[in-house]
Amino acid sequence: MWRPCLRSVSIGLSIGLFCAMLPIPFQMLLAAVFCFIGRGNIPIAIAACWVSNPISQIPLMLFQERVGAKIRDILDMDWLNFIDIERIIPYFDKSVNLANFAVGVASTALLLGLIAYPIVFCFYALVPKKYLHTTDLTKDKNYQKVSISTMRKIPVEVFGKKQAAASKLADETAELIRFNDSIGKSTVLGLATGETPLEYYKALIQLHQTDGLSFQNVVTFNLDEYIGLDSKHPESYWHFMHINLFHHIDIKPENINLPSGVVSDAEISAYCEQYEEDIKEAGGIDLQILGIGRNGHIGFNEPGSPRDSLTRVIELNATTREDAAETFGGIEKVPTAAITMGCGTILSARRMVLMAWGKDKASIVNKAVTGTTSDIISASYLQDHPNASFYLDTQAASELDQVI
Ligand code: F6R
Repeated sequence: MWRPCLRSVSIGLSIGLFCAMLPIPFQMLLAAVFCFIGRGNIPIAIAACWVSNPISQIPLMLFQERVGAKIRDILDMDWLNFIDIERIIPYFDKSVNLANFAVGVASTALLLGLIAYPIVFCFYALVPKKYLHTTDLTKDKNYQKVSISTMRKIPVEVFGKKQAAASKLADETAELIRFNDSIGKSTVLGLATGETPLEYYKALIQLHQTDGLSFQNVVTFNLDEYIGLDSKHPESYWHFMHINLFHHIDIKPENINLPSGVVSDAEISAYCEQYEEDIKEAGGIDLQILGIGRNGHIGFNEPGSPRDSLTRVIELNATTREDAAETFGGIEKVPTAAITMGCGTILSARRMVLMAWGKDKASIVNKAVTGTTSDIISASYLQDHPNASFYLDTQAASELDQVI
């Protein structure tokens, strides 16, 4: 009910304001015709047109008298004189000064503003809906909220392909190793397992084989190992690291440190302390490589892991075990616990890069990078590290900056 009324008022106002220079009966006729086409209420439109007329005259007069006079002076446009200003506003002072000029400009702006809304309204009222394509962006599955990089609390680099990211990180690693070699210092790397670092390890092997990068002075500490798996188990991280990296480079076996998954319960606590000591004795980790679990874990620091936690045994979260089920050939074969470096151990590295690929990681990456720091997502602790970065492919970065 209110819509046709509003439409009629806007049509009347538009005609009254926009066609203020036409004779009033002509304006009313126009208002009635437009209202008929726009299926409005003709008497309302005529009334609105009539009411708007005196309103439109004042700014128009000011425009004519002050701004128009100026324009006429400059362009000698006599035809602008078609309104008899003295008859309509007899008390008007004709002297042109700056104040009058400003009033003229302001009233013209006001007039245009007054016209704009009814015109836009008329447009929507008159044009049939089928010609107006309005799209609800939020219903479009490809829609993503606009990226606002200020929401990111960790430096993020996004690469078209994971190989590009891995190769950049491998180059960074090579530079670090070569620099440390040149000053007679060994390089301490913290390494991760899983799908994510595979391309990085390939790139390191390539640098070793074709570029002569030597790992003779490199010491490594791996993040974690499944409890119950010995080095011969095909799913052990010991096996993974040798197959995917150590067998292909010239690292000294004594420089490889991988937590053992088969330490007795009685010895495990001392073993974990010793792992921490070994890292310190090696001079601390120069560069820590990380992946991220779908639940936000780094290493196996499952939700609830304190920021200052150290190497310890931890029960594996359901998500973590589900994700490992395929490689183990069934969830029942996935160990229920692991030994892992703690968040505190990881955060003490001098530099760390977390890599993530694929759509499955997009949501948790966004939470870790833009959300609040909390023990629910241990990767969010990287926000507090002065030299941490995320290297992502476009898919893993696809939800960045969405409001959580
Ligand atoms: C493994 C590790 C884990 C993985 C994470 C992601 O050493 O530290 O935090 O990085 O579970 O696993 P992928 O790379 O298989 O998706």
